[in-house]
Amino acid sequence: MNEPAPRAKASDRAADVTAWQSELAHASPAAILDRALEQFGDDVAISFSGAEDVVLLEYARRTGRSFRVFTLDTGRLHPETYRFIDTVEQHFGVRIEVAFPDTVAVTALVRDKGLFSFYRDGHGECCEIRKVEPLRRALVGLRAWITGRRRDQNPYSRAALDVVELDDRFVGKDGLPLVKWNPLAQRSGADVWDEIRASEIPFNPLHARGFVSIGCEPCTRSVLPGQHEREGRWWWEDEAKKECGLHLDVKAAPST
Ligand code: ADX
Ligand code: SF4
Repeated sequence: MNEPAPRAKASDRAADVTAWQSELAHASPAAILDRALEQFGDDVAISFSGAEDVVLLEYARRTGRSFRVFTLDTGRLHPETYRFIDTVEQHFGVRIEVAFPDTVAVTALVRDKGLFSFYRDGHGECCEIRKVEPLRRALVGLRAWITGRRRDQNPYSRAALDVVELDDRFVGKDGLPLVKWNPLAQRSGADVWDEIRASEIPFNPLHARGFVSIGCEPCTRSVLPGQHEREGRWWWEDEAKKECGLHLDVKAAPST
């Protein structure tokens, strides 16, 4: 009689992540994406915000493998971003899976606190309802996810970001912590733009109007030359709090 296959364990997954970190420490974004797709197939998806992370889809296309993409529609994105999501679907010939906030939760928030509570109370509550809870639902059908995070995006929280991490804030379809791939971790914004221009892929038109980091419309503004991109997000809040809960696995730069 055949023995049932042993169930994967969290410790095995942690060991896998450690091995991939060594294997891919100096790999290109395309090689990291290829490894993620090879390893997880349909159980991994690119988390696409509608901004510069469009370059992830180009790297995925070049692997020749099929790939999944999802986006979190908070209901508060710029009109340009909605159009761009459609443009990206057509350019890459993929359907982008859209996750929406829970109607009951978002209705209660707006009824109790109005449409702009984040300017008064901070962005945590609104982001939890419009982004984090829908993300949790999206991830429960996966075993891994791919993000466009980079070290240079946030000196407070992303400075020591790894190209692959164990994400134990979320649980995947096998009940284990997810594997979180960050193929652009060690690339700069300039590298990403070199790639976008060279490959002639479409980009969000807001970038041509001074927007660098793009999130929801009420919480995003353009930045001036020389200003850090993060100053365009939640600008009324403390620098150190500029993570919305999608990525709270904060890794600051090691002290020297
Ligand atoms: S955030 O946490 O501050 O909003 P940021 O805008 O820097 O994140 O984007 C970093 C990465 O998080 C993106 O490249 C993408 O992988 C993921 N992400 C951010 N916003 C969304 C979104 N609305 N839908 C899907 N993924 C997102
Ligand atoms: Fe709400 Fe702003 Fe967070 Fe969007 S970024 S979910 S509008 S607080």
